[in-house]
Amino acid sequence: MRATAPQRSQGGRDVMPANPIHPVLVERLKGAPDLDGVTAVDDVSFERPWTRAMYEADLENPSVTRIYVIRTAEFPVAGYCAAWLLVPELHINNVAIRPECRRQGLATFLLERVLDAAIAEGATRATLEVRRSNHAARALYEGLGFRVRGVRRALTNPCWLVDLELEPSAGGRRFARAGR
Ligand SMILES: CC(C)(COP(=O)(O)OP(=O)(O)OC[C@H]1O[C@@H](n2cnc3c(N)ncnc32)[C@H](O)[C@@H]1OP(=O)(O)O)[C@@H](O)C(=O)NCCC(=O)NCCS
Repeated sequence: MRATAPQRSQGGRDVMPANPIHPVLVERLKGAPDLDGVTAVDDVSFERPWTRAMYEADLENPSVTRIYVIRTAEFPVAGYCAAWLLVPELHINNVAIRPECRRQGLATFLLERVLDAAIAEGATRATLEVRRSNHAARALYEGLGFRVRGVRRALTNPCWLVDLELEPSAGGRRFARAGR
């Protein structure tokens, strides 16, 4: 299954149409079971994952916090994206996909939906930090059009600060100004 041909469902949720056996859905995090799913993905994805308490504190600020989950037929939470919307900027804090679901286009599909939702709420720029050593994530972001704008120095693992100019489009990719 590849997430190469997404389309917008009429109900406002995003469903991958290509393979009816493997529908994929992106939606805002709902309740404790979703949070369990997010922390489970984190535990197998990051050396120092956010704790549940950190997410709960984050969710106490619903005007800013945006957490989206991606669901597959097999996994209610196959991955997630946690971000802060500080219009006009969307700052992405975490993105992760379950190891057994990687390299199927899920993170790309998820981030495209998250960026679309941010644009709809007034964002014109998306930012995030990625470790220079994280080649998978760097390739993911570069593929979406993010460009390196700076480096945060760290002794062992410098981070790149990357950003993306956002603009709405009529149904296609909206990253026309990426790289300027
Ligand atoms: C980074 C991560 C979210 C990517 O998720 P994913 O669903 O596998 O990503 P996609 O399938 O959408 O991949 C999109 C592109 O990213 C690049 N990419 C993804 N994983 C890669 C890997 N292991 N090695 C090299 N490139 C990779 C490829 O260019 C890929 O396109 P392709 O498959 O057509 O070659 C996932 O590997 C992950 O959860 N990693 C651990 C958590 C993490 O590091 N998060 C990022 C923090 S900044």
